[in-house]
Amino acid sequence: MAQAYHVEATYATPVSTEIETFDLPVEGTLPPELCGDYIRNGPNPKPGAKAGHLFMGDGMLHGIRIEQGRARAYRNRWVRTRQFVDDAPYIRWNGTIDLTVGSANTNIIAHGNRLLALVESSFPTEVTRELATTGVYDFDGRLKAPFSAHPKLDPRTGELHGFGMQIRPGALSYHRIDASGTLLESRNIPVRGVTMMHDFALTERYAIFMDLPVVFDMLLGIRGKFPYRWSDSYDARLGIVDRADPAAAVRWLEIEPCYVFHVLNAFESGERIVIDVVRYRELWRSGNDAFGPTTLHRFTVDPAAGRVSEATLDERSIEFPRIDERLTGSPHRYGYAVAVGASGKGSAELRKYDLTNGSSVDHDFGPGRVPGEAVFVPAAAGEDAGWLMCYVYDAARDRSEFVLLDASNVAAPPVAVVPLPVRVPLGFHGNWIPENV
Ligand SMILES: [Fe+2]
Repeated sequence: MAQAYHVEATYATPVSTEIETFDLPVEGTLPPELCGDYIRNGPNPKPGAKAGHLFMGDGMLHGIRIEQGRARAYRNRWVRTRQFVDDAPYIRWNGTIDLTVGSANTNIIAHGNRLLALVESSFPTEVTRELATTGVYDFDGRLKAPFSAHPKLDPRTGELHGFGMQIRPGALSYHRIDASGTLLESRNIPVRGVTMMHDFALTERYAIFMDLPVVFDMLLGIRGKFPYRWSDSYDARLGIVDRADPAAAVRWLEIEPCYVFHVLNAFESGERIVIDVVRYRELWRSGNDAFGPTTLHRFTVDPAAGRVSEATLDERSIEFPRIDERLTGSPHRYGYAVAVGASGKGSAELRKYDLTNGSSVDHDFGPGRVPGEAVFVPAAAGEDAGWLMCYVYDAARDRSEFVLLDASNVAAPPVAVVPLPVRVPLGFHGNWIPENV
């Protein structure tokens, strides 16, 4: 990760303690209507843990409580998984997989009145707003497969759609959960092999899966490495699944070889499907610690013709794309992402894309300051009427801040900054959990 993000080692280094602090100072103004918790997940191996790949570290949650214009509390807590508490093995002695074991290190979502910490290899782990771990959550015994860290909430129906790639035996499940949190369906999607499938796309009629040439390799796992590598012999494909018809055949359409961790959004345009992603030309050909440059990329699928056309929307490296999620599956104008070291000052910017007019604007946090993924929090009707919130690491002070930007005016100074007494290390995904969720 360090190669792509040009970050100081101190930013990537795990923290070794859990803290809890109350009534933090606020610079600027926290909007009084914001009431809830911003919680971000990321790998943070426990002290004494065996050195391993970044993706395998124990999940740690960093939460800040915002209420009535005040920053009431900040706390960080490891997720007390069976991996964390007992060093329980994911692969049992007889070679079978224990889905109740996982790092829970990738994302945290709220659905069906539960907070779930997620990692794609395993079942979710339920936690509380105070970041205490409740335990493994398998949807009352209905979940029989892994659950991705990137489920999508369909704003039209309130349903949560997710998936899971099981490594042994190789199988892809497409999960559908109703608005109240009941797992309704886990549909089997036939695949050729076991690949690293990190995200997917959802439109009104379709779910789109990305079967890409980063393949599972058990030998790497046995050697203690992250068990995935690039394969030149595995074709890259998009799988188009009809949401409404479980009996319909999956349409697999070939694309240029690439890897995609994250989808910005997808939508239908007439009979075509548009999917915007952050694309790596290749990933992990030699070793799996480095992350190459990316582009913002558009797939346009013509299901009738069985073709996918591809276009680069922006050549500059980004990661952690997010949209106004009221538009998941619908046409979007704006997208937000972390711009990777564009300024060359050991820093990174937060970029807002206007995909209607092909422009972008950056928020520059200053030298040595690096934002993590920013989540869009709506304030009113209108696609960019809201805030962006994220943690920003400041190398000079070796501390982090919670920062709130006006999404309609990203380049402007922050609306509010809450300096934290600690560092929030490089992590993955977070979400704003409003009080009434
Ligand atoms: Fe992710």
